[in-house]
Amino acid sequence: MSPKLVRAEHDATSRRDRPLRITVDGEPVDGIQGQTLAGLLLASGRHAWRHGPSGAPRGVFCGIGVCFDCLVTVNEERDVRACRRRAADGDVVTTQSRTPRQDEEHT
Ligand code: FES
Repeated sequence: MSPKLVRAEHDATSRRDRPLRITVDGEPVDGIQGQTLAGLLLASGRHAWRHGPSGAPRGVFCGIGVCFDCLVTVNEERDVRACRRRAADGDVVTTQSRTPRQDEEHT
């Protein structure tokens, strides 16, 4: 199996990609309906989009909604797991990081 993306017009399943656009920290990011926010972030070349309390970069770790490493703010809703949320056209995504002090305030 090829790792290459099969363009919709060449896909034997006759899929119809419907494009969408979100903004990530003010930058436009294009994708197709059905992708998760994490999928769009990864496809746009972002492999880490926040930092944990230790300062270590965080992005997708489990990819199934268990580890909470992929948290982002979506349309002003904090702590959304990017691997579990499907992107919607017009979503405004901001990356987020907490300092250790902020983590104490949230517990
Ligand atoms: S990558 Fe683990 S919860 Fe999203």
